[in-house]
Amino acid sequence: MCGIVGYIGSRDAKEILLHGLEKLEYRGYDSAGIFVINEENNGHLFKEKGRIAALRSKVDNAVEANAGIGHTRWATHGEPSVRNAHPHQSADGRFTIVHNGVIENYQEVKDAYLEHVDLVSETDTEIIVQLIAWFAETEDLDTVSAFKKAIVALEGSYAIALVDNTDPEVVYAAKNKSPLLLGKGDGFNVICSDAMAMIKETNQFVELMDKEIAVVTREELIIENFSGERIERQSYTAELDSNDLEKGTYPYYMLKEIDEQPAVMRRLVLKYQDEDDNLSIAPPMVSPITNSDRIYYNASGTSYHAGLVGKELIEEMTNIPTEVHISSEFGYHTPLLSENPFFIFISQSGETADSRQVLVKMNEMNYPSLTITNVAGSTLSRESTYTLLLHAGPEIAVASTKAYTAQIAVLAILSEVVGSEKGLIKEPNMIQDLGIVANAMQSLVDEKDTIESLASDYLSITRNAFYIGRGMDYHVALEAALKLKEISYIQTEGFAAGELKHGTIALIEKGTPVIALVTEKSVAGHTRGNLQETKARGAHTMVISMDGLDRPDDHIVIPKVNPILSPLVSVIPTQLLSYYCSLHRGNDVDKPRNLAKSVTVE
Ligand code: AGP
Repeated sequence: MCGIVGYIGSRDAKEILLHGLEKLEYRGYDSAGIFVINEENNGHLFKEKGRIAALRSKVDNAVEANAGIGHTRWATHGEPSVRNAHPHQSADGRFTIVHNGVIENYQEVKDAYLEHVDLVSETDTEIIVQLIAWFAETEDLDTVSAFKKAIVALEGSYAIALVDNTDPEVVYAAKNKSPLLLGKGDGFNVICSDAMAMIKETNQFVELMDKEIAVVTREELIIENFSGERIERQSYTAELDSNDLEKGTYPYYMLKEIDEQPAVMRRLVLKYQDEDDNLSIAPPMVSPITNSDRIYYNASGTSYHAGLVGKELIEEMTNIPTEVHISSEFGYHTPLLSENPFFIFISQSGETADSRQVLVKMNEMNYPSLTITNVAGSTLSRESTYTLLLHAGPEIAVASTKAYTAQIAVLAILSEVVGSEKGLIKEPNMIQDLGIVANAMQSLVDEKDTIESLASDYLSITRNAFYIGRGMDYHVALEAALKLKEISYIQTEGFAAGELKHGTIALIEKGTPVIALVTEKSVAGHTRGNLQETKARGAHTMVISMDGLDRPDDHIVIPKVNPILSPLVSVIPTQLLSYYCSLHRGNDVDKPRNLAKSVTVE
């Protein structure tokens, strides 16, 4: 989703901003722009629809500038276009801003203050910059005061970077609900919505919190709240290796990230092992879970699918009843809660606005919570009581792969630790089981040629497809279908195999691909029977089964693992099928249309 960068120092601001925007490309966007300015107050605005490469080709290399702001836009108000792309400027040309988030009362603000202004875009963002200019002019306010007065009038979410053309020695920033970081350098400072954008410049970052304003010069970062009280906050070191952000020899990040999964499993075991080689999680985090009477997972998309598997793991190993909820539903239609609930938020990015709104509400009720995330210091991590990290390394492709398997592995580790604490597990074996999983994953990622040819055979021309399964296989079918649809644009459904004949089988026609997952002994025969029912109606059927449950005609046989961990392995061929299908269709695998990596608006 939208990304922000800002720089003030003495080097070429254009190049630093463009490079930063390139590092944010993975988040998904449809237009981009930069505004740069030099010490002589000469400002230049460049905007373009489409990729950063298109913006780059529009930027005049002769322009000299040592400060500026930049933005990648994912359209919310107004179509993707140059006109709607950020940065936006006030009518008098004095102020320039970039903004992430959504201003909910933009119409009211417009009606109350800006009837006299001819707006040039359809965005809610333009309202902010025009409002700042209005207060600066009509009330003769300095920039900070006009900025504050404007944002106090706003309702909604925002991360904003602002430049006042009459004072090019300062870049301003403000935040509410949308993430924003300030980066500290030697003789320069930066602003970014994601540390990845500026990790080449610095690894020292300070978080801006909700309802705070920052005044950023090349020497100083000053943070204050809306009442003008100065806030001192220590910087932290972003543990990002810029090499992790490169694709290396891979054509796409998604393939790299699929290949990294065995290593992530092994790393997780090491990260959660204590000096006695037992899995361990800090006791203060374990005890509220052990003592809770019900666990509520909240998550979106792929992370929700990991939660479905996590429910089975927690219930099987800890006996604690568990519910899994889609965050965007839970916050506004909260079910009756148990007496002693514990909340677990699952989020690769740790920034998903749908999950955050639930966390804010649960914090207001003083319920304890845990966030399982890949991003240390992310909003959900900071705002929940506890955090467990995925240690998967940055996930850049919009389609989540290694984060999904890491989420399940962390939930498996947590389940075993809590189960042992409750005395339900006498002989823990998760370390060995995850080692077996890592080896099984490796053998499957080595089967790329076979899976690529299955993708060609089954998915190259179809307009719809089905994954079916029961139990754990049903959970994986949901994730497999999401993965296929989001990057291939084939309409795909994940379905409980037994439910097909209650309606959906009507959609099966000659050649419809139906892929069955068969890894659970107790229901294997039933799922195979349901697959036969689709075959009898013309479906082009494929079977992914587990060693020991396989039959001679099965197309992919995954190695045997502890059945409760089967999703970690059975999902791998489905990820590769999606990848090759998208590749063969000529799509941008890493940046599928309309999607964003980090979904920071509700
Ligand atoms: C997965 O491939 C998707 N890109 C998407 O469903 C994602 O899992 C969802 O938006 C949740 O994101 P999060 O894990 O960062 O919260």
